[in-house]
Amino acid sequence: MVATPARLLLPTAARRLLGASAARTTARHLSTSPPARAVLYDHHGPPDQVLRVADVAPAEIGDRDVCVRMLAAPINPSDLNRVEGVYPVRPPLPTAVAGYEGVGQVHALGPAVDSLSPGDWVIPSPPSFGTWQTYIVKPATAWHRVRADVPPHYAATVTVNPLTALRMLRDFVNLTPGDTLVQNGATSIVGQCVIQLAKLHGLHTINIIRDRPGSEEVKNKLKQLGADQVFTESQLDIKNIKSLLLTLV
Ligand SMILES: NC(=O)c1ccc[n+]([C@@H]2O[C@H](COP(=O)([O-])OP(=O)(O)OC[C@H]3O[C@@H](n4cnc5c(N)ncnc54)[C@H](OP(=O)(O)O)[C@@H]3O)[C@@H](O)[C@H]2O)c1
Repeated sequence: MVATPARLLLPTAARRLLGASAARTTARHLSTSPPARAVLYDHHGPPDQVLRVADVAPAEIGDRDVCVRMLAAPINPSDLNRVEGVYPVRPPLPTAVAGYEGVGQVHALGPAVDSLSPGDWVIPSPPSFGTWQTYIVKPATAWHRVRADVPPHYAATVTVNPLTALRMLRDFVNLTPGDTLVQNGATSIVGQCVIQLAKLHGLHTINIIRDRPGSEEVKNKLKQLGADQVFTESQLDIKNIKSLLLTLV
């Protein structure tokens, strides 16, 4: 699955932002996490106004906890929406850590944890706590191990957008191979995941994108991902749109 958000906090950028040092050794048992830095907010509002970077006190590592050093975390639109407070489910405030997904490396473990080892790569599962911080301590059950040979930007973004695309394809109508679906916003990361998953499942896609400079290259890129048809909005600004779509399926 190719799903690379344009705004990914890649390891180098994330370390610069959060102040983590590049090389750390992993230790099996520690009583507390190293001091961490995090991107926090105390009340909802425009992210550029309410987010702040701050030092976070070391967290206690309980018997069943795992301390993870974050490697990369994306900035998804839904992260910004969460900071803005547009979703009905909100984190308790004041002081929440921003971010929703990402990948990290196990730094230390509580003595009762045998499901993970120092050095393992893990992602939050389900994504339910702030990931824009350098070290996170959560119970072992909050982490899911992933292969460490996957590029970090793939591992960091495997949860939110690909799974949203999968659920859109599965949860609302019963699609079977040979069916055709139409989507707008096809350049979005979710849209690109829809294209790839549809292709894998034998579904055809008709994709609508905005009229923008370079739209021919965008069309080619989406077709390389598996899109069957790609139109700009102006190409579909015609009276017989329904008949056109019917001739395509
Ligand atoms: N579980 C969930 O509910 C869930 C999970 C993930 C995402 N989402 C939502 O799904 C949406 C897509 O997320 P994403 O991360 O894939 O977004 P993204 O990669 O940032 O893509 C944004 C898309 O919106 C289009 N767009 C932006 N402004 C527009 C405008 N004024 N008119 C028409 N199109 C416009 C962009 O088109 P251009 O390429 O032309 O700029 C692009 O296709 C967001 O609303 C996000 O919050 C929901």
